[in-house]
Amino acid sequence: MMPSVFTSCMGGMQGGGESVEVISPGSFINALKLPGEISSTSFDIAAKTGSVSLGEGANTQVYTTNGMFLSPTIRAQRGDHLSIKFANDMDQESILHWHGMSVPPDMDGHPRDAVEPGQAYNYNFSINQRAGTYWYHPHPDGFTGPQVYKGVAGFFIVEDEEEKALNLPSGNYEIPLVIQDKKISADGKLLYDTGGMMQQMMGFFGDRIFVNGTPAPYKQVESRWYRLRLLNGSNARIYNLAFSDDAAFYIIGSDGGLLEKPAQVTEVLLAPGERADVLVDFSRFSQGDTLRLRSTGVDNTGSGGMMNGNDGGGMMGNDRMMKDRDGGMQGMMGSGSNSQSQSFDIMEFRITNGPGDSFTLPSQHSTLDFPKAEEVTNRRTINLTMEMMQGMALDGQFFGMNRVDQQVKQGAVEEWTFVNQTPMPHPMHIHAGQFKVVKRSGGTGRGLIPTETGWKDTVLVKPEEQVTVRMRFNAEMGVYVYHCHNLEHEDNGMMANMKII
Ligand code: C2O
Ligand code: CU
Ligand code: CU
Repeated sequence: MMPSVFTSCMGGMQGGGESVEVISPGSFINALKLPGEISSTSFDIAAKTGSVSLGEGANTQVYTTNGMFLSPTIRAQRGDHLSIKFANDMDQESILHWHGMSVPPDMDGHPRDAVEPGQAYNYNFSINQRAGTYWYHPHPDGFTGPQVYKGVAGFFIVEDEEEKALNLPSGNYEIPLVIQDKKISADGKLLYDTGGMMQQMMGFFGDRIFVNGTPAPYKQVESRWYRLRLLNGSNARIYNLAFSDDAAFYIIGSDGGLLEKPAQVTEVLLAPGERADVLVDFSRFSQGDTLRLRSTGVDNTGSGGMMNGNDGGGMMGNDRMMKDRDGGMQGMMGSGSNSQSQSFDIMEFRITNGPGDSFTLPSQHSTLDFPKAEEVTNRRTINLTMEMMQGMALDGQFFGMNRVDQQVKQGAVEEWTFVNQTPMPHPMHIHAGQFKVVKRSGGTGRGLIPTETGWKDTVLVKPEEQVTVRMRFNAEMGVYVYHCHNLEHEDNGMMANMKII
């Protein structure tokens, strides 16, 4: 049984479905848009159905936030108390989630708190955590993918004294970059097609890369140090970010703020939901030079065959899945590679003269107070599973709004091991705090990468990998979710509830 779906899956993997339109070096022609900033402690976030032109061509339907296609950056200080009114004027139920923040359960954007179009939700919470590059996006059950894709996603930057003391590049020299792939029709319409088996399995892939909502973007920079806050805000695509000259840059922070010290790298792997805070020294360039940020190939294969240890699951249809199930999960599983092997440029930096700077890279940023192995009181295994004909699940089950899947004692330190039993990569995200990545085994034996030496809230688990994270659950008691941050997987039910008791 490998007829139609098999062929379309294979076609997708080898060509159109995943590949990106290549932009030649001279064709980055749109000035990079920068999101507006909100720095007050009391404000509204209004998400609305709207219409904009995405570069070329006619207007297309999107969701705007406070009237803009690009959601504004929230910039807050540690210790601030925020009150935020979220007004949902989209055409679907919604709720906002502050990704990476530790806030009470009813402030976290659990899908059960989603409000109908025309309604609002009020948030009140204090910021009790490290400076870092967090973000926010909608989190309703089943519609997170389309709402993020159509434009509702923004940075949530937290600052604190420790970070300020480092005098990192700021103001014009600190640039947030949210990287997203989108599909645009010939007549300028934003397309989001998730009806096929292919999209159900792999998640949605677009063929154009947008940075801050800008297609084919360029940014003028001076020949000096810059801080780039990188966010993979794509639904499913993983990037392996590097510069066109392969030069070194420095990772200074990950999901939960600063690393202990800068890590020199030439590439950084970033899965959906993950952030990397990096410093780049453009002073090696002079006026008129250009440099491109690119993604080099991402290997999403396991160590050997794509099929291993799958529990099969039942054959009953998952009512979350779209109607297209004419045959071919077999094809997908036997089909070999789902690697995103293509390399492509994302944006261009154009170097101009400037006054220069006297910045020197700090030798130490911070000390990270991770929970210790001796403190671990419980270990759990979370299996990432694929249910025949139904899609991706956690421990063989799809999300149940009112089912509690894990109960955790408040204050406990636990180790959770994500075991990937599917042929797909899954960026696994736990709400209500930050964790330490303890260990990655299996797969290609790649071990931990520099961003994974810092605090994390999302960790990539490739096929055949097992990844163990250690977390202290000191958020307020109540129910939070953990899920795959491939948004089509999440919407299709690869999400579960944990209750802190
Ligand atoms: Cu960024 Cu539960 O999500
Ligand atoms: Cu989150
Ligand atoms: Cu997934």
